[in-house]
Amino acid sequence: MKKSILAAGLISLSAGVNIQAADVQQGHELVETNCVRCHGSEIYTRPDRRVTSLPGLHKQVRFCEQMLGLTWFDEDVDNTATYLNQEYYKFE
Ligand code: HEC
Repeated sequence: MKKSILAAGLISLSAGVNIQAADVQQGHELVETNCVRCHGSEIYTRPDRRVTSLPGLHKQVRFCEQMLGLTWFDEDVDNTATYLNQEYYKFE
């Protein structure tokens, strides 16, 4: 019983990592292409940073994206927020 729960957990964990790896790569590229004009990565790690939660990070990515007139899909915003979170914010 215990063993099968563990196995299921491992399978879903590795699947999640695979999906995330693809997303993060695309998010990374989107940031490099579109987001380094006004601020570099220092803004994501500054002590008084504005973003304090994962939903807040999504909102802020959407805000900057719209300010630029980029018309990203939700998926692009998700990938970018996932990348920034994994690399800098590290929210749970
Ligand atoms: C036209 C200039 C500009 C560009 C280009 C830009 N941003 Fe921003 N960004 C800002 C400003 C201004 C702030 C707010 C700074 C402040 O509050 O002091 C900000 C803040 C942020 C923050 C919050 C930082 C914190 O304090 O936690 C995130 C995250 C962010 N931007 C993501 C992005 C992403 C992703 C892109 C690319 C889609 C992007 N930005 C492109 C101007 C820009």
